[in-house]
Amino acid sequence: MLTNLWYAVEFSAVLAQQPRQITLMGKEFVLYRDSQGKAIALDNRCAHRSAALALGRVEGDCLHCPYHGWQYQADGVCVNIPANQLGMEIPKRARVEPYPVQEQNGFIWLFVGDLPESQRPSLPELPQFAPNFTEWHQSIDEFCWNANYSRVIENNVDVSHPPFIHRKLGQRVNQDATIQLLQVEPVQGGASVTLTAKLAKLKGFWQMLVAQQEEFGSTRRHSFYLPNFTTLELNFGKFKLAFLMAHVPVSETVTVTKSIILRNFFKCRLFDRSTNQFGRKLLREDEAIVKTQVLQAIGTNRELLVASDAMILAYRKLHKEHADKYPTLHP
Ligand code: FES
Ligand SMILES: [Fe+2]
Repeated sequence: MLTNLWYAVEFSAVLAQQPRQITLMGKEFVLYRDSQGKAIALDNRCAHRSAALALGRVEGDCLHCPYHGWQYQADGVCVNIPANQLGMEIPKRARVEPYPVQEQNGFIWLFVGDLPESQRPSLPELPQFAPNFTEWHQSIDEFCWNANYSRVIENNVDVSHPPFIHRKLGQRVNQDATIQLLQVEPVQGGASVTLTAKLAKLKGFWQMLVAQQEEFGSTRRHSFYLPNFTTLELNFGKFKLAFLMAHVPVSETVTVTKSIILRNFFKCRLFDRSTNQFGRKLLREDEAIVKTQVLQAIGTNRELLVASDAMILAYRKLHKEHADKYPTLHP
């Protein structure tokens, strides 16, 4: 796992005062909001006897350990040991590590690394979705993969698999398997590519969606941002659907994808279910194949990338450059 980068780890909308555990490559963090609503991240292991702080509670601005009630401030310093007699000193080592946190584009971002604030990279700019997704209606969904997060990210920017893995979708969007020469554009901390296709006859929900528009093209734009964020923007004529995805690397072989799904049509909540089902079906189809890939650090195993894999090459190149510069974390 790369270090000195911001990881998108949780939906802003689900984080409240109630602490939540986040696991990145086996390392546990606790996230919660203080009384001002500010998101805080600390090491999940209590300095006393290592109980999980995520099972504790927040009172005022302190996180209380569930075991013996030690109270931690946002900077990780323990300010009260309830079992101590009055006047007893709190040991200096009674503290847990705090981690920098930011909120943007509907996600909580956690900084893993040791760079000082002035040297930390900035979060991905996503002007098409900023500031509050006003053009959009959004729903959220989670999906668990039995696969390494780098494989999951590669799958999300792999433009040549849809006609094979997503056969039904391939029949709807008239996808000739040939990939036009890819123009990979650099974006801050990542890369993007846009493809065009022609829509074929649709069925059900999606037919209703485009019924009035006989013939039009569609485009899809795939982007990745190191270390764990991808976006997919689908345009069907004037209808737009976008997936903002945080791929949380829980362990070497488990990744949880947290998706914010945006649409500029059928903005009623009633349609959240079918939109989520559509996204989930695609991920299930992907996961069935991705989990069969050899699990090795990307770039070390024997694989033969070709022209249509230009986005995967771009991801591996940036990944390697970063891994050569900073230490990586392993479970
Ligand atoms: S383990 Fe947390 S207070 Fe004892
Ligand atoms: Fe896919």
